[in-house]
Amino acid sequence: MQTQEHQFSPSNINIIGPDHYAKNGYPHAEWAYLRRHKPVFWCEWPHTDPFWAITKHADIVQISKQPKLFINSKRLLVFVPDQRSDEEPVPPFRHLLNMDPPEHGDYRTIVSRRFTPRAVRELQPEIERVTREVLDKLVGRTECDFVIDISSKIPLAVIAELLGVPHQDWDRLFRWTNQVIGGGDPEFQEGGSQDETFDQARMELFNYFTEMVNKRIKNPTNDITSIVANSTVNGGPMPQFEMLSYYLLLVVAGNETTRNATTGGLQALIENPEQFRRLQKDPSLIKTAVEEIVRWTSPVIQFTRTATEDTEIRGQKIRAGESLCLFYPSANRDEEVFEDSFKFDVGRTPNPHVAFGIGEHFCLGANLARLELEVIYRQLMERLEYAELNGPIERLRSSFVGGIKHMPIKFKLKPAVQ
Ligand code: HEM
Repeated sequence: MQTQEHQFSPSNINIIGPDHYAKNGYPHAEWAYLRRHKPVFWCEWPHTDPFWAITKHADIVQISKQPKLFINSKRLLVFVPDQRSDEEPVPPFRHLLNMDPPEHGDYRTIVSRRFTPRAVRELQPEIERVTREVLDKLVGRTECDFVIDISSKIPLAVIAELLGVPHQDWDRLFRWTNQVIGGGDPEFQEGGSQDETFDQARMELFNYFTEMVNKRIKNPTNDITSIVANSTVNGGPMPQFEMLSYYLLLVVAGNETTRNATTGGLQALIENPEQFRRLQKDPSLIKTAVEEIVRWTSPVIQFTRTATEDTEIRGQKIRAGESLCLFYPSANRDEEVFEDSFKFDVGRTPNPHVAFGIGEHFCLGANLARLELEVIYRQLMERLEYAELNGPIERLRSSFVGGIKHMPIKFKLKPAVQ
């Protein structure tokens, strides 16, 4: 990628405006400029409190590995509302991502054994079955919206199964995810502002899981809803607000992210046809290809930490109470860590990307996401005879998750080998 650095100056850098993401995708040229000239950059933007933009891989690693010096609970992300609110925003949820040690660890261990590599492997036959079913429906067709017809279906089915949500309610889960993550996008707003859309979806999801919790307390099953519903923290039952927030996190975190990695992965393969052919010819590359897809797409744009004491990063003084916004996709193009960082290379090794974060809050679902992507891409590579873009990609209006809402493709799929 050619970076036209001359066009930037600290006063015109836009790395946080959601419209910018909807229109242009990730601001890679801006991030490259910052990595080189202002890796710890003070950013002021309308309607949100100022923050330090952290764009280098080493700095994100260092900050994430010190969860007492850099905490999550004060500010989870740089949220950019359409209008300034004078009130201090109070997050309407309390889950792993906005908890700090030691409480964070107590909550995380409640479900972590369901996400170990071994536990996740047990889901493989089911993920394979769901993926085959999704692809079988498209045999004979020549055009589709890859997001609606393929990439959104599989993560949704997997998380719904894990939570024990019956099939007839999956559409609702899909809508809530879109509205929680994409409440700032007109396509997902329902008669209200970003805040109202988010709140409405959150309340519906809370009500839905309240009913499920009541059933699971009476009749526990093996699903994650039961485990959380019947768990104890600090010697007592988990408080209701934290419990419902746990479900909100699991539904939302596992859906949109994997969907966008899947979509962005196919886009990258279409745009790099030699890598497409290479992976099709050599399926043993599937694991490195999945890592590269996750690095390349980096579906989570940012999370934020707040310094608890005065400190320094790269010689820059950071005061207690100031927040630092960690831009994962920038770290994943860091020229100091990745050779030829703007090349999409399905055989890339090593690939120490931080798309799943690192340290205390490292993505709980990383093993699951990797397995889903492995299954999807294995089947796609076996069955996809060709694929090309069939119209413009539509991106989500969000500076939190780099979503692709629609990706029309022309394609040909072979029937599954029995
Ligand atoms: C490609 C897909 C995914 C990406 C890129 C992704 C990315 C991330 C990132 C960046 C974090 C924060 C890490 C940090 O602060 O250091 C995170 C946390 C988390 N993710 Fe994922 N994620 C993905 C899939 C999933 C899936 C499938 C689940 C399953 C439910 C999941 C559940 C979670 C949870 C529960 C957390 C909070 C962990 C904590 O705070 O301890 N994620 N993820």
